[in-house]
Amino acid sequence: MAENHATATDVPVPYSTGDSKITDATIAEMREIMARYPQAQSALLPMLHLVQSVEGRVTPEGIEICAELLGLTGAEVSAVATFYTMYKRRPVGDYHVGVCTNTLCAVMGGDLIFDRLKQHLDVGNDETTEDGKITLEHIECNAACDYAPVMTVNWEFFDDMTPETATQLVDDLREGTEVKSPRGATICTWREAERVLAGFSDGRADEGPTGGKATLAGLRLARERNWTAPGGSSNADTQREG
Ligand code: FES
Repeated sequence: MAENHATATDVPVPYSTGDSKITDATIAEMREIMARYPQAQSALLPMLHLVQSVEGRVTPEGIEICAELLGLTGAEVSAVATFYTMYKRRPVGDYHVGVCTNTLCAVMGGDLIFDRLKQHLDVGNDETTEDGKITLEHIECNAACDYAPVMTVNWEFFDDMTPETATQLVDDLREGTEVKSPRGATICTWREAERVLAGFSDGRADEGPTGGKATLAGLRLARERNWTAPGGSSNADTQREG
């Protein structure tokens, strides 16, 4: 990125209102995010998450405001927003549902789950149900292969899924039933999750374990068999099980 030209407090921001829900309070929070970083431009990624929490997607207005605050061009902000797949240019539903269809999950049933959900929800990839509740997306490996096939709801993991548990999950979400990730987190809306990704805590960061049994199997074996890493001591005993 180019050298920063703006500080967190000195930029007046004329912005197009249109249908934008970005308010002066949102801009104040953007400045709060900028103030966290020695280089304000480092704040762009969480600022875009904040835009999504307010607008339901990255809007042209959101891009314009981020660019103005950070001393960037709209094209530079747009280039970032279109590079990372977590930034959405089309409105996302109340819940973003991801199905991992990378190799391991695919062969363990991910492809089957994705096909079943497309049919069940009557949507294609990256599309939202008519009631605005669910946006379905096939996602790349989420580094949770030990629980394949995995799904995510607003980036919280759902492990060892089947077509049946997947359809039950989206039905529960659509009906407003409280849903918890098997790893502990209570599922909030996508916009609420985006606000957390912008760095505004919802106070629930410690819900659930930090690691599950399958993830920690290697650590358990190393301890049981007194294995150590070649050329050094094992850090197995210094690790904490969640
Ligand atoms: S292949 Fe699905 S999480 Fe890695």
